[in-house]
Amino acid sequence: MSEEKPIALETRGEAADGRRFSPSAERNRDVILSVFRRHMPGAGTLLEIASGTGEHGAHIAPDAPLLTWIYSDINPPSLASQSAWAAHLGEDSGLTGPLTLDVTAPDWAPAGVPERLDAMFCANMIHIAPFTACEGLFAGAGRHLAPGARMMLYGPFARDGEIAPSNAVFSDSLKQRDPSWGVRDLDRELMPLTASAGLSLVEAVEMPANNLSVIFEKT
Ligand SMILES: C[S@@+](CC[C@H](N)C(=O)[O-])C[C@H]1O[C@@H](n2cnc3c(N)ncnc32)[C@H](O)[C@@H]1O
Repeated sequence: MSEEKPIALETRGEAADGRRFSPSAERNRDVILSVFRRHMPGAGTLLEIASGTGEHGAHIAPDAPLLTWIYSDINPPSLASQSAWAAHLGEDSGLTGPLTLDVTAPDWAPAGVPERLDAMFCANMIHIAPFTACEGLFAGAGRHLAPGARMMLYGPFARDGEIAPSNAVFSDSLKQRDPSWGVRDLDRELMPLTASAGLSLVEAVEMPANNLSVIFEKT
């Protein structure tokens, strides 16, 4: 039996062609799409960090025919699922990659990441990874996003020391699995990373189940 640390906290389904299905991605993909349509570009090149099963890209990219969506992750089974989604939806979907990308690697920039990106997207990673992943995410956004380009994060957050009871319980359960994991505080932990990355907060959009979509813009 594998002793590997889990990368997600739910049971996932898998199709014969290797596409994986996450119940949580299926639940929240439509509300995420509606925020994406409102705040993110419909054209250009987007890098998704920690694409997981690949379902967010598979749902959003076909909705934005002029957008090239680059999948990435560190986890080989997740990368395989992303390849399967890209193959399933075909070239017209705009889905490309996946790239093996660890945001904790110093100055990450694997081959295939263009020097200048028009957008970045990352859902449900920063609380299920050490804080160095969050730092690496922001540093990379600072290096790669073009002026005026945006990064969208989705997941549970605390706000200035306040956390919803359900998120507090979730955060405690994450910390029991790994003390370096846990729900992050947007104001106290993420905002301090924005200055050196040259990012400003555009909007924190309230989402169902005490989640947020958070939009940043490169100045
Ligand atoms: C809970 S899953 C979320 C997947 C997907 N974004 C979603 O919302 O369904 C967390 C993902 O973060 C990835 N991950 C964890 N640490 C990472 C790192 N250092 N660099 C890149 N990806 C990482 C895991 O492999 C996993 O795919």
